[in-house]
Amino acid sequence: MADRYDYVIIGSGIAGLYAAILAREHGSVLVLTKGSIDDCNTRWAQGGIAAPVGPGDSPEKHLRDTIEAGAGLVDEEAARVLTAEAADRIDDLVRLGVPFDTVHGEIALAREGAHSLPRVLHAGGDATGAHIELTLSSVARLEGITVLEYTIATEILVEGPGGDHEPRRGGSRTAPTASACDNHRRAAGVRALDTRTGQATEYACRNLILATGGAGQLYRVSTNPQVATGDGIALAYRAGAEITDMEFFQFHPTALRLTGVQPFLISEAVRGEGGILRDEGGERFMPACHPQAELAPRDIVARAILDRMQRTGADHVLLDVTHLDPHLVVARFPQIYRFCLDAGLDITQRPIPVSPAAHYTMGGVRTNTWGETTMRGLYACGECACTGVHGANRLASNSLLETVVFAKRVVRRTLVQTDARPGESPATTAPLAPDAIDLSEPAPGEAAPLTREALQDLTWRDVGIVRDAASLTRATATLGAWQTTLAQPHDRPSQELADLLLCARLVTEAALRREESRGAHYRTDFPEPREEWRRHLTFRRASIRPA
Ligand code: FAD
Ligand code: SIN
Repeated sequence: MADRYDYVIIGSGIAGLYAAILAREHGSVLVLTKGSIDDCNTRWAQGGIAAPVGPGDSPEKHLRDTIEAGAGLVDEEAARVLTAEAADRIDDLVRLGVPFDTVHGEIALAREGAHSLPRVLHAGGDATGAHIELTLSSVARLEGITVLEYTIATEILVEGPGGDHEPRRGGSRTAPTASACDNHRRAAGVRALDTRTGQATEYACRNLILATGGAGQLYRVSTNPQVATGDGIALAYRAGAEITDMEFFQFHPTALRLTGVQPFLISEAVRGEGGILRDEGGERFMPACHPQAELAPRDIVARAILDRMQRTGADHVLLDVTHLDPHLVVARFPQIYRFCLDAGLDITQRPIPVSPAAHYTMGGVRTNTWGETTMRGLYACGECACTGVHGANRLASNSLLETVVFAKRVVRRTLVQTDARPGESPATTAPLAPDAIDLSEPAPGEAAPLTREALQDLTWRDVGIVRDAASLTRATATLGAWQTTLAQPHDRPSQELADLLLCARLVTEAALRREESRGAHYRTDFPEPREEWRRHLTFRRASIRPA
């Protein structure tokens, strides 16, 4: 191995950089990132970061909204941690230099869907993520943290039983019975590829932190940039860590829908400021769907829009802010205003076409409230992790908050050394799920050649906002067939495609098994929630057995 570090962190979005800045105080840190430092979802975040810091608000109220939005699957302990530690993490971001917007010297707070009161801090109007990313990358640079750009992690190196480095193609359905911690297998480092030279290098570490973001590129219509290919989730699954809640993929209700223009997010905060959704005929339709109208939970608004599109035959509905003060609109949403204007639309003058787009991966690498995965030495935070705070449907702007709350807890946990030999990572306190399952054995079959576009078309059509057994079974067969033809990845595009394919299989097989509708997972053949499904679906490679 090339070098040994106390911390290797994969990813340079908010989760990775914040973790790196904290970890720097406790040891040597290496950050690997597959593109330029700011190529990530974080930089595109618009609405802001939720925290119960306004007058009349409290962690308890924020917790209630989070649980309510999560449709019965929020892990209450994790959500309590999220909301209780929110204000302190906001203070940290302010100290690091994030320039949150203010009104009369007080932090400005916006309203977003399913929040019971204004609670969302923002920066530069709708440029929150860009400001956060710029601030954290500047601090990381000043602190002298080593960031290896254009370096893609391709494999987690594992020591202990099953610690081979062979990538697998699926496994059996047999579930290992396990309740113990998987203490005997340990993440010992990572293999990574310099995407400019093709050189592969292994980096050893005591603590490996996945901060690789989500998998929004699974879908053809997505708010996520090209970089969001679910790599960390795929790497963790192959290494034997548990993956959970993958069937819950959040579709944002409003992305700009214009032929030839990328689906650009139109923030929920636009509806928070009074934006109205209308169909092609100009009729406002949300009040009839939900008491909170345009500010109902995202899954409800997304499906209502889809329904309206199907009824009118249009590929979009309209978002109307023409009744709002144009100066307010331009000042509050400068990015959105500019993007639309460049596309030929003045949002202050006429309603703009919008439709739902894939937005956020609620499932991911299963962690406890300390960001520990089920594998010793392996931590996850940010969008690649599933802490349980979002349940079946994430509350708006809770994602940026989750990244900082749990990145901080990961670093705190790595300092607990009572149960580890010097230089070793502590045992994980995250137990294996007793009922974890594995992906079905992939079978060869007829399928068009595998490309990212073909994969995205399949998932958009068959594993999208609305699914059923027939569409999911069809998708399972095609994905399995693709898996059997997959060659060993050798560069960034092939690695990303393999990772997307694995994530697609996890989403699809989980969605097929969950015979109900809940939160973001909607099945026309099981349109209601079912009490027996008030539980999580967790995947683990069948060959990984507890010691
Ligand atoms: P990211 O910021 O995506 O960073 C992931 C990093 O991992 C990147 O640097 C990437 O290059 C790197 N990486 C990935 N795989 C590898 C690999 N194999 N090897 C090396 N490096 C790798 N949330 C909110 O709370 N509020 C909002 O207002 C909001 N608005 C949003 C708007 C848009 C358009 C989008 C797309 C998302 C929005 N979200 C919002 C969600 C939020 O931005 C993300 O969930 C959050 O930024 C994720 O941060 P992260 O650090 O976990 O991942
Ligand atoms: C938005 O601004 O609508 C995105 C907020 C989020 O994803 O939480």
